Amino acid sequence: MGDATIPLVDLRHAALKAKVPAVLTPATGLLSDRLGRPLRDLRISVTDRCNFRCSYCMPKEVFDSQYRFLPQSSLLSFEEITRTARVFAAHGVHKIRLTGGEPLLRKHLEVLVEMLSGLRTPDGHPLDLTLTTNASLLTRKAQALKDAGLQRITISLDALDDAIFRRMNDVDFPVADVLAGIEAAARVGLGPIKVNMVVKRGVNDHEIVPMARFFREHFGAAVVLRFIEYMDVGSTNGWAMDHVMPSEEVRQRIQNHFALKALQASAEGETAQRWAYSDGRGEVGFISSVTQAFCRDCNRARLSTEGRLYLCLFASQGYDLRPLLREEQASDEQLAAAIGLIWQNRDDRYSELRGQNAAPSQAGGRKVEMHYIGG
Ligand code: GTP
Ligand code: 5AD
Ligand code: SF4
Ligand code: SF4
Repeated sequence: MGDATIPLVDLRHAALKAKVPAVLTPATGLLSDRLGRPLRDLRISVTDRCNFRCSYCMPKEVFDSQYRFLPQSSLLSFEEITRTARVFAAHGVHKIRLTGGEPLLRKHLEVLVEMLSGLRTPDGHPLDLTLTTNASLLTRKAQALKDAGLQRITISLDALDDAIFRRMNDVDFPVADVLAGIEAAARVGLGPIKVNMVVKRGVNDHEIVPMARFFREHFGAAVVLRFIEYMDVGSTNGWAMDHVMPSEEVRQRIQNHFALKALQASAEGETAQRWAYSDGRGEVGFISSVTQAFCRDCNRARLSTEGRLYLCLFASQGYDLRPLLREEQASDEQLAAAIGLIWQNRDDRYSELRGQNAAPSQAGGRKVEMHYIGG
């Protein structure tokens, strides 16, 4: 879209090795970080590849044929992911989101879903198991994912207009195929379906009302459309505040056409503010990470494709868990203690500090890329 992009400095090597503490404190499910925040949500990236090239995430000029994605041997295996996730569940995680890149590009993903669906919280409940996808492969995969135990799904879609959508994904992918994917997910019962739209001023903001109209009319309460403020994640997308449309403004635009009423948050630490259509045709959400940071309750940890734990979407450094899983053959107790120590020392709150113009200056001002740790 003509935006200046910035060359990528490879930050994937910036990781500290996770350390096993001398005293192994067992997981109690009651872990808390330095700001008193629990650990509840684990986002696992299963591939750093994607078949789209959205300019705000993987601009074509950077992620071209020369770009070196992670080699197969670096990726955590399904067994390694499941084992790590089990330890996180013991620490109190009750939601797992699979992300990418595009997670459906990881071969046999449904096998991983089945393995993860066997995990339980300390009091014996299954975890909330979900996945974020661009839906390009969803028509083919929806049934297998459902059968494997996936509970729900979130789909990224930034425009309904075919020409705009093709331009935004930058690989000429037609919007009709994404809509067919959403239909397939609804048919097999992967609901409540969430559709995430990143709003970039001047690029797709005129799609806000058509998107709202389409989803309330075709899907009603079966799809929750959420509008996301365009964020300064990563270092390649040439982000500027001018591109951000505050959620307040997005909501006003919708309310000019459809009356809305505010809803209560349904879970602690939730990213979206929820609003219902007054006529009962479902709800929409607003994710205001730029204008109203939600770090205060942030209970999310991110695990990269090759096993690095990131404590914030804007972190410049992760903690490498893979040596514990592989060379050092750490026990579950050791792994749990290492993760516990990392979380206890967490004080990240990037968006909040950015809001106060006090964001930490990171190593060379570089942050990890979103396609690498997931949204
Ligand atoms: P649900 O449980 O389905 O409501 O998911 P969620 O809203 O927790 O997660 P999802 O991945 O759908 O988040 C939607 C978008 O919110 C992401 O694509 C990001 O743009 C943004 N987001 C999610 N988590 C964070 C976070 O921890 N920090 C910031 N700044 N933004 C986030
Ligand atoms: N700002 C906000 N959200 C983003 N995503 C990716 N890049 C950004 C950004 N710069 C989110 C989108 C996409 C998901 C994979 O990550 O929601 O759907
Ligand atoms: Fe686009 Fe999502 Fe792929 Fe990034 S990971 S390029 S946002 S489809
Ligand atoms: Fe959590 Fe970091 Fe996002 Fe704040 S900016 S909500 S701490 S991931």
